[in-house]
Amino acid sequence: MKAILTGHSRGLGAAIADELLAAGIPLLAIARRGNAELAARHPDLLTQIALDLGDPANLAGWLAGGELEHFLGDAGEVLLINNAGTLGPVAQAGRQQADAIVHAVSLNVTGPLLLANALAARPGVLRILHVSSGAARDAYPGWSIYGATKAALDHHARAVAQEGRPGLRICSLAPGVVDTDMQAEVRQAEPEQFPLLERFRALKRDGLLATPAAVASKLVAYLRSDDFGRQPVADLRTLDSASA
Ligand SMILES: NC(=O)c1ccc[n+]([C@@H]2O[C@H](COP(=O)([O-])OP(=O)(O)OC[C@H]3O[C@@H](n4cnc5c(N)ncnc54)[C@H](OP(=O)(O)O)[C@@H]3O)[C@@H](O)[C@H]2O)c1
Repeated sequence: MKAILTGHSRGLGAAIADELLAAGIPLLAIARRGNAELAARHPDLLTQIALDLGDPANLAGWLAGGELEHFLGDAGEVLLINNAGTLGPVAQAGRQQADAIVHAVSLNVTGPLLLANALAARPGVLRILHVSSGAARDAYPGWSIYGATKAALDHHARAVAQEGRPGLRICSLAPGVVDTDMQAEVRQAEPEQFPLLERFRALKRDGLLATPAAVASKLVAYLRSDDFGRQPVADLRTLDSASA
């Protein structure tokens, strides 16, 4: 078994990488920056690729270069975790910067779809986990771009699951509210652009954010479980304990 993960340099992705490496799974991890601490602890298991996944031409060029196939070799089972993401413009329609929209769609949607397509072209067992969000399922004013990009991942998972390719399982999974840089960014929004701001500030103030380590542990257990992919769209907070 080998794994591909995006966004391992910090936040939830760093904790997911830690879980996979601790389980002895060789990992190819992609982000703009590296994770020196994980590299020092797992020099033989971790391959880091410095790539801006917000630039689809960059990613497509890297995929054509053969480094992915070289890493995977003859691995019979592959895990893909599409974790890298951005909140994008936190602003209401008409107030969003055009380049921020393009970047968010490229990073949150185009990148995951390109990686999923490249890996699905190989024979063998493949488990794809898109890191989605509750914002894909409930509409939050000010997060129209973020919610739309995560809803795109949910729908991609539904359609790929329907294709029924033997050996391929897929799930677009909302992880819950996690104490990362992204949440710090959420709390800095302008209240008139994001009316739910106070709710998110209160989650931090009241100690209600999950730790990246706790979420990663549950997420990786689910990814490796027999139940993975039974539902193409799921929420980590409501999986029953047997499957998580
Ligand atoms: N935190 C939450 O409460 C929460 C809730 C629901 C869903 N999520 C989702 O969970 C995932 C992880 O979120 P997080 O909270 O851990 O975010 P984070 O702390 O902001 O970390 C984001 C990760 O994505 C990578 N990344 C960002 N832009 C990139 C780019 N252009 N190219 C390559 N990698 C890039 C970052 O690495 P570099 O900066 O080194 O490139 C970093 O490793 C995201 O998909 C997010 O939407 C988070």
